Amino acid sequence: MPRPSLFRPTDRHPALWVRPEERYPTFWVETLGSLPPTHGERWSAARGRTVRHFDPYRSKLAAALARGWEGDLPSAGEPWLYLGAASGTTASFLADLVGSKGRVYAVEKSLRPFGRLIAVAERWPNLVPILADARRPREYVDWVPNVSGIYVDISQPDQVEIFRENANYFLADRGRALIALKASSIERGIAPAEHARRAVDALAAEFLGGSPVPLAPFHRAHYFLDLRRSPPSGGGRRPVRRPTRGSGSPE
Ligand SMILES: C[S@@+](CC[C@H](N)C(=O)[O-])C[C@H]1O[C@@H](n2cnc3c(N)ncnc32)[C@H](O)[C@@H]1O
Repeated sequence: MPRPSLFRPTDRHPALWVRPEERYPTFWVETLGSLPPTHGERWSAARGRTVRHFDPYRSKLAAALARGWEGDLPSAGEPWLYLGAASGTTASFLADLVGSKGRVYAVEKSLRPFGRLIAVAERWPNLVPILADARRPREYVDWVPNVSGIYVDISQPDQVEIFRENANYFLADRGRALIALKASSIERGIAPAEHARRAVDALAAEFLGGSPVPLAPFHRAHYFLDLRRSPPSGGGRRPVRRPTRGSGSPE
């Protein structure tokens, strides 16, 4: 087990800790969850707090940090929507970052990882598992409020469209999006960097963002996008499409 004195708090986020290592620093997150460790990750003590290793090979958000991404992490108290939660590895870290007053609404469509996601949610009370297809946000409109941010990691060819549709339903004005884009899911024969650039261009009318961050060598052919919804043109609030169940198509 690493020596606790080696952990340092960061000024990125109150729950994010860093530990200098021989090759590169590792990131650790103070956890809301209880022992034993989940997902086979390392847990440790840092100055009286319990922290979990935020492994860049297991989480694309951790990989973005390891690759030098300098954007804002989800903040304490924020509600976030998570598309493609799988068994909850990264979703549980998001739950740690938003803390006990925040919420992570975690959408997963496959039954097998969803079972494990439920087990994780029993230990992270601010993690709300939702068994649904992210292509059909109307089916979970009654469970998800307007959110401060949307995290997307669904590895689908139409992931940008899926994100846009969910943003129309749930994302607050000036809300944020963190998107792990799997370039090879979109179209073979085009370089991953070009895919990422096209995704940013496709969303540019509504979202402002910096340069996509490559996630290799941790996740091959993946890029990380950090976007913020731009203010609606002409000022005022963007109309949010939140039909109630059975009220027909939002289109
Ligand atoms: C790469 S894995 C996600 C890993 C996870 N984000 C993490 O870091 O722990 C992609 C997940 O997206 C889910 N998925 C794919 N298409 C989906 C859809 N249309 N709606 C909801 N989940 C979807 C898959 O079942 C899979 O569990």
